[in-house]
Amino acid sequence: MSHSKNIDPTASSRKEDHIKLAFESAVSSALQDNRFYYEPMLSGHPNEKEDFSVSIAGKRMKFPIWISSMTGGTARAAKININLAKACEKFGLGMGLGSCRQLLSNRDRFDEFDIRHLMPSAPLFANLGIAQLETMLADNTLQKLDKLIDDLKADGLIIHINPLQEWMQPEGDKIKQSPIVSIESLLEKVSYPIIVKEVGQGMGPKSLETLLKLPIEAIEFGAHGGTNFSKLELLRANKTQLEAFKSVANIGHSPNEMVQFCNEIIKSNKEYIQCKHIIVSGGIKDFLDGFYFTENVNHSSIYAQGSAMLRFALEGEEALFEYIEMQIEGYKMAKALLSPKAIK
Ligand SMILES: Cc1cc2nc3c(=O)[nH]c(=O)nc-3n(C[C@H](O)[C@H](O)[C@H](O)COP(=O)(O)O)c2cc1C
Repeated sequence: MSHSKNIDPTASSRKEDHIKLAFESAVSSALQDNRFYYEPMLSGHPNEKEDFSVSIAGKRMKFPIWISSMTGGTARAAKININLAKACEKFGLGMGLGSCRQLLSNRDRFDEFDIRHLMPSAPLFANLGIAQLETMLADNTLQKLDKLIDDLKADGLIIHINPLQEWMQPEGDKIKQSPIVSIESLLEKVSYPIIVKEVGQGMGPKSLETLLKLPIEAIEFGAHGGTNFSKLELLRANKTQLEAFKSVANIGHSPNEMVQFCNEIIKSNKEYIQCKHIIVSGGIKDFLDGFYFTENVNHSSIYAQGSAMLRFALEGEEALFEYIEMQIEGYKMAKALLSPKAIK
């Protein structure tokens, strides 16, 4: 009688599956993702001890994944923010709050933004639009902002630069001076870390160059190709406006183009670059996009997702955790087995 142990108990059913699914599993070469060299000879599977960490505003993130600024200020937003904050703490990610504008004049909805207790060790940034910053600078009321950041226990402030969105928005604000003037003036007056971002259009090379030379914590792309706030505002406007301006939503710069701009600027201005990190965002579908772009940036970089995180945060904590866990596993696999081709 043999005493050998069955070391592969699912072998038979697995072999059945292989025969059943073989025809279905054929892939078309037209769908090949040719952004990467796949190098199966050079690495084992990801090693659990490998360190992927990066520090933003003095807080360590275990993985270079950021949750883009989204929401706050409605009951639904509170639930979303709670799920996102718990995910940041559990997985070692960082996040930006959605625009905190309403809290400057009214604290009724403060609780919906107040998530620091759920993510004590992860980077958390407050968020405000450039038009509001401009007004506060003009009125000399920046202390309100300092207090807000203090009360939220945020690590810093994200300023979103959104002139096209404001221009499209029926109730939009006018931006009276160049945003770079307001940002420079803010940097002179405050000592907390500042991140500057767009909201779906991205930025051209001259804007990026001015920002890269400033002592800011990061630039977040908010690139073209994902959630687009100009388009979103148009969808809120009337039909005539929608028809007249819908082509404006197509203006902007993709993450691919912005990575190229940044690399060219960094290469020819090495000694003047003061911005610490680049956060690639705007239409990042998954870890493969994130890995591809961040590996191509010749500077400290992480990637961010907005709507993808929102979709799962709306479903609930469990769905969000599962999604993020898979993204992290995917990112680790990519680091081990893939080598991105250079963006040209
Ligand atoms: C529901 C929602 C609300 C947003 N609100 C803000 C905001 O208040 N402030 C801001 O800077 N960006 C805001 N954004 C833009 C995101 O921060 C980010 O730039 C964009 O969503 C990234 O693209 P993606 O959604 O394709 O990943 C919002 C995005 C979404 C989806």
